[in-house]
Amino acid sequence: MMRISGLSAGYGAGDVLHSVDITAPAGELTVILGANGSGKSTLFRTVSGVLRPTAGRVEFEGEETTRSRPAAIVRRGLAHCPEGRHLFPRMSVEKNLMLGAYVGRRDKRRVRELLGRTYDLFPVLQDKSHQDAGSLSGGQQQMVAIGRALMSDPKMLILDEPSMGLAPLITQQVFDAIVGINQEGIGVLLAEQNARSALKIASTGYVLAEGRVVLSGAASDLADDPAVQQAYLGV
Ligand SMILES: Nc1ncnc2c1ncn2[C@@H]1O[C@H](COP(=O)(O)OP(=O)(O)OP(=O)(O)O)[C@@H](O)[C@H]1O
Ligand SMILES: [Mg+2]
Repeated sequence: MMRISGLSAGYGAGDVLHSVDITAPAGELTVILGANGSGKSTLFRTVSGVLRPTAGRVEFEGEETTRSRPAAIVRRGLAHCPEGRHLFPRMSVEKNLMLGAYVGRRDKRRVRELLGRTYDLFPVLQDKSHQDAGSLSGGQQQMVAIGRALMSDPKMLILDEPSMGLAPLITQQVFDAIVGINQEGIGVLLAEQNARSALKIASTGYVLAEGRVVLSGAASDLADDPAVQQAYLGV
């Protein structure tokens, strides 16, 4: 599991994340809600080692990772699928996927198994494995980004707004895949604008506002909370 305590971080001109406490249990799906600019991506960059915290602590699977390097954190079993996908558009789908295996295991057999798992999860990617990633639809590119993160064989997957810019039907496919990943025992930490769908698949949720946790609880309780409904569910 991941335990984040008192975590603060920023980009040099003061903190944008203020003493955040979040626990993401192993194998569970935890959702982080929050308006634009509330600090979701900053939180994810900090726990995955891309950004250095100014205070606080991150523990993953019982070991402190607060100031570990990104590659070391991936090797521990935490994979980060960033907001905006960041694929290499002129490389093939399969080459993009294989980049995710680079930091992790060098065991060729295991890498083949992981590639097979990704294609089982997203069969359309197998059909397009030799096409340039940039030629795929937005939804398919999101599948490549998630698949690439899975290629590091994570225990926990961080997904930053996977439904961004996708049509409702495609969003549903991506959410179904996230549920499938979670059912394989992989923990998921998910940031979403699509609060209604995210709360349906999550067990626990946190709401960030201006870099602070302002609400947390069981996902079903958050879905019934008037403040959440008003701010995020359009009720
Ligand atoms: N690279 C950066 N340099 C400086 N400030 C940044 C940078 N990235 C984000 N910020 C600032 O940090 C704050 C939190 O932004 P962050 O991207 O973490 O929010 P978010 O919840 O992920 O928002 P969104 O829903 O738009 O993705 C915002 O005020 C933002 O302007
Ligand atoms: Mg963000």
